[in-house]
This record gives sequence, structure tokens and C-alpha cells, in this order.
Amino acid sequence: MKIDVVRKLPDVLDTIVLCQYEKGKLDVFEEWLPDAMLDAVKRFINAENITFQPRELYTFHYYYKHQATKIILVGMPKSEQLTAEQVRYSLADIIRLCLKLKSKQIYILPGFDFDLTDAMLGQVLAETALLTVYKFDKYLSETSSEMPDALHLVQDTKNTRNLNKGILEGRILADATNLARDLVNEPANVITPDTLAEAAKKAALEYSFQVEIYNMDKLRRLKMEAFLAVGKGSKYEPRLIIMRHQGNPDARQDITALIGKGITFDSGGYCLKSPQGMVNMKTDMAGAAAVIGTMAAIANLKLNVNVTAIIAACENMVSGEAYHAGDIVRSMSGKTIEVVNTDAEGRLTLIDAIHYAIDREHASRIIDIATLTGAAVGALGTSISAVVTNDQNWYAKLEEASELSGEHIWQLPAFEEYKSLLKSEIADLKNTGAPWGGAITAALFIQEFVQNLPWLHIDIAGTASKDKESGYFNAGATGVGVRLLTTLLKSME
Ligand code: BES
Ligand code: MN
Ligand code: ZN
Repeated sequence: MKIDVVRKLPDVLDTIVLCQYEKGKLDVFEEWLPDAMLDAVKRFINAENITFQPRELYTFHYYYKHQATKIILVGMPKSEQLTAEQVRYSLADIIRLCLKLKSKQIYILPGFDFDLTDAMLGQVLAETALLTVYKFDKYLSETSSEMPDALHLVQDTKNTRNLNKGILEGRILADATNLARDLVNEPANVITPDTLAEAAKKAALEYSFQVEIYNMDKLRRLKMEAFLAVGKGSKYEPRLIIMRHQGNPDARQDITALIGKGITFDSGGYCLKSPQGMVNMKTDMAGAAAVIGTMAAIANLKLNVNVTAIIAACENMVSGEAYHAGDIVRSMSGKTIEVVNTDAEGRLTLIDAIHYAIDREHASRIIDIATLTGAAVGALGTSISAVVTNDQNWYAKLEEASELSGEHIWQLPAFEEYKSLLKSEIADLKNTGAPWGGAITAALFIQEFVQNLPWLHIDIAGTASKDKESGYFNAGATGVGVRLLTTLLKSME
């Protein structure tokens, strides 16, 4: 889908979108629309009593130059209160209606100045359009994938440089997010540790970042026993996926590590999940998908930062080979762990990946992103990710990135008290705490392995997928994390 800025309307119009807020004036459209069409719009507004309430949409056909022009009227929140996320929501409404109307050429006429910078407006326009039209329909025998050909923002401005720059960035962000969504939406019989590694390789080739894949032998030599224990029950071998973007050669030692949870299916292991708890567990590699998408985006944007992403990819299954409840494993760090619950597997893979990032890749700071706990879903629901940190200043930057990207976060505290819940009598740690506070104790477990480096822990168990359409997402994977992390890394340039 083409997305651009135009200064003129063509003679023959397919779809035209008129945005206005309550009590806003229609006169602003005078210079754009032919008189007869503007009269028709005014008559329609009177007949339907349209007052442009926020997120209200109306549509009618108007015959103009032998063509049925689809006219869409959109109510917007008043411009001083307009946030980027509100613009995204309104745009998503518009795009969905255009899909229904099978619009091909869409012209958007904002009837007022958006309270966003040109760059942000361009970004929001492109990312929302491309996120909203996304579909995962490759397994449907019959599809109805009629896409608009182009979306044009009509603006009376000579200087479209920042708008166009924003559009390009929005496209990069949306493409990377949709790449992550594809990986998460693919079922576990397609995405295995090996095919996930292949997907990382493919992205590396397409967007130009480095990639290395370690197999079993190498992982045994690295003594990643906690990670390997989780993967033992699967017929698919684990893989360690290492991706590097060296965007700042002047500061080679400054490396941000992104650690993504890559459980390609989480059955729970011998602490087996219920059918209901298991059905969506192909999404347990959404953290991995988020870091692959982020690498694609930052390489594409050529961000001036050094980032190394690590995914410990494996499958948590049951078999005669699987790890048992009660096993004691020695992590790569040397710390021993009593596995009191085989379903608390994500943290076992993450801590070996984190230790590897610090020990072998010389990471200066750590971000881990994981579909880690049902408790995070219980605490914050499905549109807010839970974050735990040991660095409030860095967290403040993440909050800014959250504001800009519209990916909501909320901080959970990591008070020392709950650390005692992870004490084991027979090993250095056990892998779960109490029946409550699970999102916090999972984070505290991980914190034991970050060696006091600045650390952000993002639990996306609730936000990685939607069970029904909402905002600019349809049902299924959201690619959460890609826009948040890319925006954060951009602010660290
Ligand atoms: N992958 C799950 C967490 C999860 C739950 C993700 C719901 C998405 C939706 C994780 O591996 C898990 O099973 N966590 C357990 C931990 C418990 C055994 C301490 C949980 O949250 O129940
Ligand atoms: Mn689990
Ligand atoms: Zn899991």
C-alpha cells in the first residue's frame, strides 16, 4: 500500500475522508472540494444531525464525474487534547471502514492542524494504516484480501520533508511489527527452534544485521544447563540465536542486550497445563519475535547504537527425556536451581541467555522481554505490559518510548522481601515463589543473574496477543515490544 502526501485532489475521487472535531468548521474544506460536493456534504450533515463526536464515522456515496465517490466523515477529539494514540485509533476506524467499502484510493483531509509534529503525524499515519490492514490468512482456503492501493494525506504544505521522513519510519516500524506478528501467529508445528533461527537468519539477510546460530554441542560446551534442561523433552533441538547490530563503532564497548523468551511451545512440561491454558502457547516465543522485529527495525533505520539480541529457543514438552519436577540444574552462571515447577521454564532459559550476553557478548545493560507469567495478565490485563527495573532513570526513558509508541507499560515493584520466597534448601535458588506475586518473583529470579547491570524486564504475557479485534490490531499476535524497544533505542542514540 502506497502512503504519501499530496497537495491536490485528483479530478475523479474514489474515497475522501473529512476529519473534523465537534463544532469545527466545514469551511476549511472549501478550498479542496468542488462546490457541489461540499453542498452535498453539508446537506448530509444536516439531515443526519452530525456533530462530529470523537470516533463517530458516517459515510455516503456521492456521484461526481460519473464516479461514485465514497465520502467518509470522521469525528475527532478536539485538537489540543489529541494524542498520537488517539490519532491512531481514529485512523484505524477509518482504515477498517475503507476496507469494508473496498476503497482503492483514499484521500484524507484533516480539517484542522494536528497537535503532532509533522514527523510524528507521518509516522502515525503509516504505522496505523499498515498495522490495521495486516492479516494472517495464509492458511485460509478462501480469503478476501482486498487492500487499498494508496493512502494520501492531503496537506497544503510545500515542505513535506518531515512528513515523508515520518511516513518512512512508520512503515519501517509497522513492517517490523508485522514480521513479529507473523512469527507469533505461526503455529508450533511450523515455528520450532530451528525454523525460528531460520527466520532470524532471513531477517538478518533482508535488513543487514549479523546473525549466529549455536546448536546443541556448542550449548553443552557453554554449560547452558538451565536452558538445555527445558528443551530436553522436545524432539526439536534447542538453538541459541545471536543477532548483532553495530551502529556505533565509536563506542564498541557500549552494548545493549535484548533477551527474548523463545519457547516455541509451552505445554508446561510435567507440570502440565490445562487444555485451556495450553491452547495459545504457540505465542510463548513472542519475546523472541519482538527482538527479531526490533533488530529488523533498528538495522533498517540504521540507528547509531550497538545492540546484541539473544534468543534461547526451545520447546517445553513431556517425554521420557523431559526434565522432572524436583531436578536440580546448574545454570551457566554456576548458580544451581531447584526446578520446583517445570511450567516456570521461561526464566530458566532467560537467565542462561542473560549470563551469556554479559559473559560472552560483554553487554553493558540488559532488557529482557518475555511472555513470562499469568500473574502479569492478572495484574494488568491484556493491554498493559508489566515492567520491573533496577534503574529508574532508564525506566523513565522507557516510559517516554511507551508514550510515543502507544505500547502501554506499568511498573511493578521489586522489593527485597519477596526474594526469600525463592530460597531453596538444596540449591542456590528455586524457580518459583508463592502462589501470589508471581510477576514480581519471576522478575526477582531473573534479577539474580543480571550482575547489577542496568536492567529492564518486560512481561508481555498479557499483551502479546489479542483474542478479539481492538484498536489497530485484529485478533491474534500484536508484535508488542517492537515499536516500544525501537523507540527506546532511538532515544539512546
Ligand atoms: N508462558 C507461561 C506464561 C503465560 C501465561 C503466558 C498466560 C501467556 C499467557 C509461563 O511459562 C508459565 O507457565 N508461567 C507460570 C509460572 C508459574 C508456574 C510460577 C504461570 O504464570 O502460571
Ligand atoms: Mn510455562
Ligand atoms: Zn512459558
